[in-house]
Amino acid sequence: METLKCIKTRRSYRKFLQKPIEEEKINILLSAGNYAPSGKNCQSCHFIVIVNEDVRKELIAKVNEVLTNMKQTDEGYEQLANIIKLAKEGKYVFNYDPSLFIIIANKKQNANAMADSACAIENMMLAAQDMQLGSCYINQLKHLQNDPRMNDYLKTIGLQDDEIVCCSLSVGYVEKLNDDVPERNRNKITYIR
Ligand SMILES: Cc1cc2nc3c(=O)[nH]c(=O)nc-3n(C[C@H](O)[C@H](O)[C@H](O)COP(=O)(O)O)c2cc1C
Repeated sequence: METLKCIKTRRSYRKFLQKPIEEEKINILLSAGNYAPSGKNCQSCHFIVIVNEDVRKELIAKVNEVLTNMKQTDEGYEQLANIIKLAKEGKYVFNYDPSLFIIIANKKQNANAMADSACAIENMMLAAQDMQLGSCYINQLKHLQNDPRMNDYLKTIGLQDDEIVCCSLSVGYVEKLNDDVPERNRNKITYIR
């Protein structure tokens, strides 16, 4: 797909088909993440690639369990109180149950951890779009990882002691891939000619 078209037609998908993604496509996705720019060209990201259905379901259950056991306070990140309320009511949807879920972790000590991970995840979202796959950036693990139960669980699936979760990505086949370019609000631009 032409690059600019790929950038402009990419959308976030929140409904996925339960169809496995071919290993070749997963490898292309990971390679796109690997070719992202990174500070000092250090490829410090750790991609935890969850294909296994039992583990995918276990993670969703763990996120719900952790949220259900949290107190509803105004502390924590914006939205947290609302998400806790939804989880307690059994209505919270974490990652839209995709057939592929990728957690992007990075070194705690890397000052560019978030920037490196953001570059990698955007490359993967565009590669997904190029391969006719839908994707959605999922933020919650970044915020929930400090809960001891969540952190212990993340360690069982590969998060290292010296790493933090920066972001995560749901990927899957979708009913229909978007191909139009809607109007967007503009970012602020200061143009000096
Ligand atoms: C930092 C960041 C966090 C996001 N977190 C979530 C999330 O947790 N769940 C979700 O459904 N979408 C999430 N999104 C997707 C945004 O809602 C989405 O990109 C935005 O609404 C624009 O829509 P589009 O991606 O379809 O162009 C996130 C996006 C970014 C960049």
